[in-house]
Amino acid sequence: MSDFVNEFWNWYVILIVLISILACAVLLWAQSTVRPKGGGTTTETTGHVWDETLEEYNNPLPRWWMWLFYVTVAFGLVYVILYPGLGRFPGVLKWTSVGEYREEVERVDAQVGPLFEKYLKADLLAMAGDKEAMEMGGRLYQTYCVQCHGATAQGSRDKGYPNLTDRDWQWGGEPAQVVETITGGRIGMMPPYGGNPDAVGGEAGARELANYVRSLSGLSHNAELAAKGKERYAAVCIACHGPDGKGMQALGAPNLTDKVWLYGSSEAKIVETITGGRTNQMPAWKDFLGEAKIHVLAAYVLSLSSGAAAR
Ligand code: HEC
Ligand code: HEC
Repeated sequence: MSDFVNEFWNWYVILIVLISILACAVLLWAQSTVRPKGGGTTTETTGHVWDETLEEYNNPLPRWWMWLFYVTVAFGLVYVILYPGLGRFPGVLKWTSVGEYREEVERVDAQVGPLFEKYLKADLLAMAGDKEAMEMGGRLYQTYCVQCHGATAQGSRDKGYPNLTDRDWQWGGEPAQVVETITGGRIGMMPPYGGNPDAVGGEAGARELANYVRSLSGLSHNAELAAKGKERYAAVCIACHGPDGKGMQALGAPNLTDKVWLYGSSEAKIVETITGGRTNQMPAWKDFLGEAKIHVLAAYVLSLSSGAAAR
């Protein structure tokens, strides 16, 4: 309730709440003082008659029902004293939903914390064989990673979310590298060459390059265009993707000689990559998950691709 711009709204809310509760009480009291005339022996009617003989009685509300209402009014008053409800007044118990959430998180952390601490000391690759650790890793994955890398961790081709179950690593598959990827996040940046015709020779040059890139992984290509593309590649692309096209993990520049694609392998898609560039970000999880959970997750990610090797 700290977002009121001034005192007026604070009191405005307090008054509306209190007046509403009191008005209910007054209304009840006014109704319950009506007594049937004649001390209850005769029956008063409202004068409404239907179907010739059907009359509406004018009886007071039943006692038990009135008391039920008084109890709810009292409950309302006690509630706004204990809990937040009166403007800025936090309530005597100082309860907040954020506070309740924090307490819950602390309780769970206290329970599972020692478990994660135990795993923090374990070797990453050895942990990949630990069933309990992998179940925990799997649950963490399904909570925090699934929206981008997919339920089966196979990524999403068009959006550039990498497949985590293959043995192809954009940023490196050594345990320390995977931990670093999850901890600090990664930003992969392929510069756009479309706006600078000198760099790659415009659309035609980009097509030559695309044919050369396709030739690197043995895909069908036009040999004449690819030969021209090779020269352009050596002038521009070599700095990041390397002389043999095998990429550079330190920059996240993908290996262009395998059959694994972040954005697609058609000539049109590769031309799009070259002219428009590509930028993609893996978020950093250091602050959110902490070292111990990242350790378990990294082991889980590594187990996915060693599983692929076994298959
Ligand atoms: C918001 C989307 C998003 C979420 C959520 C996300 N990632 Fe990623 N992740 C990416 C992107 C995008 C990349 C590729 C970055 C690039 O293009 O350089 C990536 C890359 C990676 C890589 C590197 C793969 C390689 O080949 O080197 C690993 C490992 C990884 N993510 C693991 C995880 C884990 C574990 C989680 C859950 C804690 C997670 N990611 C959550 C988007 C996401
Ligand atoms: C400054 C370094 C750099 C240069 C120079 C560079 N690239 Fe890239 N390239 C990258 C990075 C990093 C990515 C991955 C982008 C991402 O993570 O989304 C990439 C991605 C690509 C992809 C997409 C691969 C896939 O799996 O879908 C292709 C194709 C590509 N580059 C070709 C080229 C060509 C051709 C050139 C020369 C005209 C070139 N690159 C120059 C860094 C570079």
